[in-house]
Amino acid sequence: MSTAPDGSHAVRVNRTAWDLRTGVHLTSDFYPTRRVRAGGSTLKPPERELVGEVRGLRLLHLQCHFGLDTLSWARLGARATGVDLSPVAVRAARRLAAETGLDARFVCADVQGFTDPGAPYDVVVSTYGVLCWLGDLPRWADSVAHNLRPGGRFVLVEFHPLLEVLHPGKVSGAGRYFGPDRPPATWTQGTYADPAAPIRYREYRWQHPVGSVLDALIAAGLVLERVEEYPYSSYRLLDELDRCVNGVWVNSRSPGRLPYMYAVVARAARGPRAPAGAEGPR
Ligand SMILES: C[S@@+](CC[C@H](N)C(=O)[O-])C[C@H]1O[C@@H](n2cnc3c(N)ncnc32)[C@H](O)[C@@H]1O
Repeated sequence: MSTAPDGSHAVRVNRTAWDLRTGVHLTSDFYPTRRVRAGGSTLKPPERELVGEVRGLRLLHLQCHFGLDTLSWARLGARATGVDLSPVAVRAARRLAAETGLDARFVCADVQGFTDPGAPYDVVVSTYGVLCWLGDLPRWADSVAHNLRPGGRFVLVEFHPLLEVLHPGKVSGAGRYFGPDRPPATWTQGTYADPAAPIRYREYRWQHPVGSVLDALIAAGLVLERVEEYPYSSYRLLDELDRCVNGVWVNSRSPGRLPYMYAVVARAARGPRAPAGAEGPR
């Protein structure tokens, strides 16, 4: 195990990890690629409800993996752009966009410090298993704000960091609620979509308490509109989530035991943004 010496090293290590993972995910049963090819959607009830109608909107999907959700937003009429760190994932996403003929473009970039030349967007979306890969939440939140038009909305749906306390490894690997700022690199074998897959790689993961995420968004100038915690999950992360009801997984033996996910809706201020690094009034 080593300690992350700087952010760019961690990003390089994680890019290699995600290239390897993606190679497995592309043919795994976990990801319903066939459904998207056949005209279906991978979007889950929470983001559908929070994002709402997207027809005609410019939508930026952060950490889009190989694009299934991005293409699903495009299928609903959004002019969608997906961004991901992994070149393998982005190439696969572009192939799927070409095959399906959907209005989606894909960019390969680190979402920390990313400003799309195609910005501003009406909506920025990021969902499920995204924040644990990011060591610099303030830079991430600044990028969200810079990519939104004034009055545009950001929607985040993420697994709840409290799960990491009761189920170590499910979110960040920290095994506690408040994670270290500089987590060690860890070796991982296989992937959540196929634990037996013959891949082994290092990765860096961060534990971000809900308060740090909200603080970063507020500091970037976003205005919080909604914060939700859910006693269910869009994915069957744990065995205790034993029944699928209306598209989400519930703990039927102990309803209300834990918040499995949370969501944030935040709006970009309506006035012009100060340039990055500009001093505010004292
Ligand atoms: C668990 S997947 C998210 C999948 C998402 N739930 C979906 O289905 O669209 C995490 C994704 O984050 C990407 N990622 C990790 N670190 C990143 C970074 N710094 N910038 C951009 N993407 C990153 C990975 O390449 C991976 O595709």
